[in-house]
Amino acid sequence: MSKIEVKLSEIPEGKNMTFKWRGKPLFIRHRSAKEIAAEEAVEMAELRDPQHDKDRVTNPKWIIVIGVCTHLGCVPIANAGDYGGYYCPCHGSHYDASGRIRKGPAPLNLEVPYYEFPDEDTVVVG
Ligand code: FES
Repeated sequence: MSKIEVKLSEIPEGKNMTFKWRGKPLFIRHRSAKEIAAEEAVEMAELRDPQHDKDRVTNPKWIIVIGVCTHLGCVPIANAGDYGGYYCPCHGSHYDASGRIRKGPAPLNLEVPYYEFPDEDTVVVG
């Protein structure tokens, strides 16, 4: 299937859920107001792959990324690492709660796929 539809009410605040989409893990994370504020405040100069949080989300409550480490393709662990986002145990890459690379060997942020919100409780990825 090229598209996946997810009911957002099934993902509690503060949690990340993993889905399978086009043979890859897809992370959908319901961010808290505190996480959103922290990610929006990050200075571009701190980032290896500079991208503002606002340019990675449609609705800041939801960060939606492909769960494939941009180093050598392992699957990062959610809610782990030094930046409160994702941690890749293969070689120690740390991503923040916007999926941006912050520390370790990965060169790029986690990829944001194309998605739409057809209504308040639904996201369609793909
Ligand atoms: Fe993730 Fe190497 S594959 S750090």
